[in-house]
Amino acid sequence: MEIREGLPDDLGRLIDFMELVDHEFVPPLSLRPGGIYDRASGTLAKVDSNFLIGESNRRVVGAVGYRKNWNGIEEVMGEAYISFIAVHPGYRGQNIARLLDRALAQKLDPDWMTHVNVTTWSTNPGAYRMYQQLGYVVSKTLEDHRGPGVDTIYFRKSFR
Ligand SMILES: CC(C)(COP(=O)(O)OP(=O)(O)OC[C@H]1O[C@@H](n2cnc3c(N)ncnc32)[C@H](O)[C@@H]1OP(=O)(O)O)[C@@H](O)C(=O)NCCC(=O)NCCS
Repeated sequence: MEIREGLPDDLGRLIDFMELVDHEFVPPLSLRPGGIYDRASGTLAKVDSNFLIGESNRRVVGAVGYRKNWNGIEEVMGEAYISFIAVHPGYRGQNIARLLDRALAQKLDPDWMTHVNVTTWSTNPGAYRMYQQLGYVVSKTLEDHRGPGVDTIYFRKSFR
């Protein structure tokens, strides 16, 4: 697998990939403000944001979207935010998310980012476990934020 930065031409492939995993997100990405199109096009190949794309045999097997100088809530210099991370269902359990997270740290560290933030939800135990395994710690919990019994959980990791 190769990990590379997204290019404007990747928009269609990223949209297809997001549609593939859409139903696994709570709420689905397609039902969030702007939907999948805005999420992909608003992040891809911008000054302060992009995707790192994992490819194998020209197929997207995983992707992580990030934004610099943003903590998920507001602009904060030196903080980065993961706006999307997923691995193709046929390629899970092979450390691809770990490799994407490592590539992201290698990308952001020289850009003067000191921390990376990400949110998940309380009914996603796989992602919760993954962030713990990757060295993230819970920084905030918003109870019932995504509906009754579905909390939003903020994770944060220091690069130093
Ligand atoms: C969560 C997701 C990105 C994990 O991708 P992956 O490539 O299978 O993860 P990796 O193989 O790199 O695993 C990285 C670490 O997280 C742990 N992990 C990953 N998925 C896990 C799961 N479902 N249950 C428990 N632990 C899990 C692994 O054990 C591994 O830790 P280890 O190396 O110490 O054993 C993938 O399941 C996915 O795309 N899910 C749907 C979308 C989603 O939920 N995204 C996150 C939204 S916040």
